[in-house]
Amino acid sequence: MTVGEMLRMMRDPLGAPFFPPALQVLLVVTWVFHIFFVTVALGTSVLALYAYTLRKGDPFWLGVGRLSARLTPNALGLGIVTGIAPLLFVQTIYDPLWYAANTLSGFWSVSFIFVVMGGYSLAYVFYLKGSKDGRLIFTAALSLVLLFFAGWVMHVLHSVSIRPEHWLRWYMPDGTIDTRGVTFHAYNIPRLVFLLPLQSALSLAVVVMFAGWYLRKRGDDVAFLDRLAELGRKLALVVSPIYGATGLVWALTEGVEFGVVALIAVPVVVLGAVLTAYFAMLKQPAAKAPLSLVLWLVSLLVVAVVREGIRVASMARFGYSIAEYPYRIDWGSILVFGVTTVVGVMVILYLILVLYQANASKEGQVSARVERLGRIATGMLGAWFGFFFLLGAYSYFVLR
Ligand code: HEM
Repeated sequence: MTVGEMLRMMRDPLGAPFFPPALQVLLVVTWVFHIFFVTVALGTSVLALYAYTLRKGDPFWLGVGRLSARLTPNALGLGIVTGIAPLLFVQTIYDPLWYAANTLSGFWSVSFIFVVMGGYSLAYVFYLKGSKDGRLIFTAALSLVLLFFAGWVMHVLHSVSIRPEHWLRWYMPDGTIDTRGVTFHAYNIPRLVFLLPLQSALSLAVVVMFAGWYLRKRGDDVAFLDRLAELGRKLALVVSPIYGATGLVWALTEGVEFGVVALIAVPVVVLGAVLTAYFAMLKQPAAKAPLSLVLWLVSLLVVAVVREGIRVASMARFGYSIAEYPYRIDWGSILVFGVTTVVGVMVILYLILVLYQANASKEGQVSARVERLGRIATGMLGAWFGFFFLLGAYSYFVLR
């Protein structure tokens, strides 16, 4: 059996519930939000550690540390929630890849859940109990280690998934089946460095600039905010060329392996150059922060497309394409998906608006309209839970 035949046989026999290329677009777009928030969490986590250890005793850095420690659990919460969306699409259209990778790395994919829970809980403990004066700093350090490890597991899962030609050997090294799932079978360090630490530094830089713009609304110290935004600009200026250069190394390693050097090299080098030029010329980082944020999100979209391009190229080596993935429009699934999306977006919108408004005034006020939206969103969520419960009860008692 060829690798292509194996992949086709592993597809869901029921087919996808919707037109697969549309799900592929959603996969790419939703991943942008996921990677943005998780990299913000990692970046703010490092900044908090830096502020409370190496800059201890400096009032400016105490302010930076408190802000960062507060941002970490918020960003991480959003990162985890927005990770579920691409997960849904990967499982739907790349099921042979995703499940094979999860089986081959079984121990780590199960541990991942506890690693993320630990990372989140510790970040929260530090924010609540330690961020006032930098006590319990070990919780922040351990949280950072766990979060980075979660990113490593994600990276290994993805790397294993796009190398189906090795699966059999990994599953049965030396002719003996290895079901432990403990080996990190595949990875590409330049890709990981590009996607995680460097993107964390850039996400952090942009968020810090954004804070410089946004926190003026509640009348925070303008000198502090200007210094903060300038710090973000400088960080972005230093990291952007390294980002482009590391992307090039990614192209020269993984790109060579899959025959897609130009597909990776051209966009990432252009990104590195554009970002460097932009941050070098940026005059008022706080005032221009919304623009910088948009530019960075567009950059992440470019990276998301490159990632997808590599996967498509890898699968094309075996004559496998998701454009040929069988599908059957399943209105029940689409309805459930559609309503869940509406309810989910309402809840997330509410959370974002609460965060935005609460920090935009000294009193932490949230407008009556947002409170009303919150009541509606949680009501919808409750009703949707109820619907699922009834559906389950109906399936169990009536349909069985
Ligand atoms: C909390 C820490 C996390 C970090 C630092 C992290 C980081 C990453 C990174 C770096 C990638 C890209 C890997 C690569 O292309 O090599 C990725 C992909 C992904 N992550 Fe996360 N992630 C985290 C949590 C989560 C969670 C909790 C979920 C799901 C609920 C999730 C779902 C995904 C999905 C679906 C992908 C795309 C996989 C693919 O395209 O094959 N992540 N993540």
